[in-house]
Amino acid sequence: MRERLLAAEKVRAIDWRDGTLHLLDQRLLPFEERWLAYDSAAGVAEAIRSMVVRGAPAIGISAAYGLVLGARARQAAGGDWRNDLEADFRLLADTRPTAVNLCWALNRLRDRLDRLKPHEDPLAALEAEAVSIHLSDREANLTMAQLGVDLIRRHQGNPQALLTHCNTGALATGGFGTALGVIRAAWLDGLVERVYADETRPWLQGARLTAWELAGEGVPVSLSADAAAAHLMKTAGITWVIVGADRITANGDVANKIGTYQLAVNAMHHGVRFMVVAPSSTIDMALESGDEIPIEERDGRELLELGGRPVAAPVDAVNPVFDVTPADLIDAIVTEKGVVERPDTAKLAQLMCRKRLH
Ligand code: MRU
Repeated sequence: MRERLLAAEKVRAIDWRDGTLHLLDQRLLPFEERWLAYDSAAGVAEAIRSMVVRGAPAIGISAAYGLVLGARARQAAGGDWRNDLEADFRLLADTRPTAVNLCWALNRLRDRLDRLKPHEDPLAALEAEAVSIHLSDREANLTMAQLGVDLIRRHQGNPQALLTHCNTGALATGGFGTALGVIRAAWLDGLVERVYADETRPWLQGARLTAWELAGEGVPVSLSADAAAAHLMKTAGITWVIVGADRITANGDVANKIGTYQLAVNAMHHGVRFMVVAPSSTIDMALESGDEIPIEERDGRELLELGGRPVAAPVDAVNPVFDVTPADLIDAIVTEKGVVERPDTAKLAQLMCRKRLH
């Protein structure tokens, strides 16, 4: 499976080359493939905030490279650069509040600096750590894909209809995807009849990004309005809803793109299984439950306008961009450390003690 997945890899969104971060501008997809180059922490912070790069693992990886860029500039400026770097850390950490991968990656770099041996070059050590975060996310994708496919096959070995939300593919990760990685692997294994991709208002990650990624690989994909999900669960033979996550708390509650919670409620009602696929860097054991997760609210204009044109009456608009699915609506959480079925606090704690499976 690993080799087949690697051979099928087509899309990439993050490229660290010659000390510069290159990001595929996801705001323009699928109409234009434009790469933007960043050489400062402030530039990377703005890229994350403005959604040039998005998806929990991808913003963690980008932030890590952003901190490397910050360290390079701070060291060149002299003075107490390690202390000054805290400003870049905060700037990057504050860009988007819900996905914990962002702070997880930044903390890994900070810890690396704290563990620095006297003979080590701090910049080289930081860069190596950022590259390792990037590469290990790719490995985690491969492991999760296999585990997710095993899970699907265990419940039913025939080709099936799957439903997914937002974009959790190559564009959202350092590899080829979390939930979409499982879907890709299931397709390569002959287990997919059709994928229903929610359009994912208001940023249209499903319509613009997931549909593009899947169609590019020949996976049969149908785009549907977010509001069609319950109807499709009733009529289209969907067996699994498979989604990613931005933060999973110690009890197994899952924050993900707005609309995920209602999918889980509908899945439970229709007897459709619900799978969450996320690397362990998305699990936040410091928070007991989803009630504690900060939910990002974005500008109401994202709802009131489309491509800069008004599409609604000029009223107040409320725009929470994530929601929390309670653990008891989730059949399985798939991570690179293993699978947790019917998640709860004890099972999550046990999982986090395990080593990665790759
Ligand atoms: O606002 P976005 O596009 O960053 O939201 C992305 C999601 O909600 C994804 O489902 C999640 O980050 C998992 S990506 C592997």
